Amino acid sequence: MLKSKDLLGLRDITQEEIHEILNTADLMKVVITSNNKKTPHLQGKSIITLFYENSTRTRMSFELACKYMSGTASGVSASTSSVSKGETLIDTARTLDVMGTDVLIMRHPMTGAPHLMAKNVRSAVINAGDGINEHPTQALLDMYTMKERFGAIKGLRAAIVGDVRHSRVARSNIYGLTKMGASVILAGPPTLLPPELDKLGVELTDRVDEAVKGADVVMGLRIQLERQKKGLFPTVREYHKYFGLTEERAALAKPHALVMHPGPVNRGVEISTAVMNLPDAKIDEQVTNGVAVRMALLFMMTRQKPETGGF
Ligand code: CP
Repeated sequence: MLKSKDLLGLRDITQEEIHEILNTADLMKVVITSNNKKTPHLQGKSIITLFYENSTRTRMSFELACKYMSGTASGVSASTSSVSKGETLIDTARTLDVMGTDVLIMRHPMTGAPHLMAKNVRSAVINAGDGINEHPTQALLDMYTMKERFGAIKGLRAAIVGDVRHSRVARSNIYGLTKMGASVILAGPPTLLPPELDKLGVELTDRVDEAVKGADVVMGLRIQLERQKKGLFPTVREYHKYFGLTEERAALAKPHALVMHPGPVNRGVEISTAVMNLPDAKIDEQVTNGVAVRMALLFMMTRQKPETGGF
């Protein structure tokens, strides 16, 4: 069981809690890879996804996770809700909260928006990505994918390559991986590599080859064109040439290193199609694992205390 009502980031979660989530996800993966994707774990429970930014993977995997466990899943988009009529975030959150909701899952372009919501609702809140701050469930599914491949996360060397500056995925992975005993090296153009991240116990380099060399895990990050101020790198073609994950660069990693990307992918920019097609690239597996991890979280966050029954 998680200590907090909410999951807002991996900065404040313990190693034990991460272990419990990943172990529970193991059980859920069995369900989603079976012919009978229906369990009673969320029977009588209701979740709402509230997304102020676009999403395919995160939103659908939360909604499917809920449905696979017999819960009720509903979704609200900012563009089609009363947010567009001027309703405040807190008023929207309170409105959804009093509909009998158990878990509110929120994505928002502003750092801290899910934290503000969590303080104002009774429901559990899961941060599905807040600005450039954190995307904890993505990092959990990334770590699950690493654990599935290597058996343990401790001792792994993970190279995270690309637009680190704008990446909430990178930040959550830094918190999670270092907590689990992995070493992390961040690489990308200096304009996309905030030097202050070295305070989080990771290495930084603007040489992708150096980062990838000897890595167990190579994770590409999307160039977030929608958050970019102009002038952070010359052209996408040059970006690919100097910082993209090409076959030559991927070959510098350890034999059978895991190649990952959170998606969505700009093919031929941060990663080549050839690298995405390598047998050791597990980008699709990450998506599948996302459902398992989110099932685990929804179950853990709605579970009744042992003395009152439950799983
Ligand atoms: N990785 C990720 O968050 O993808 P979506 O934007 O499709 O949810």
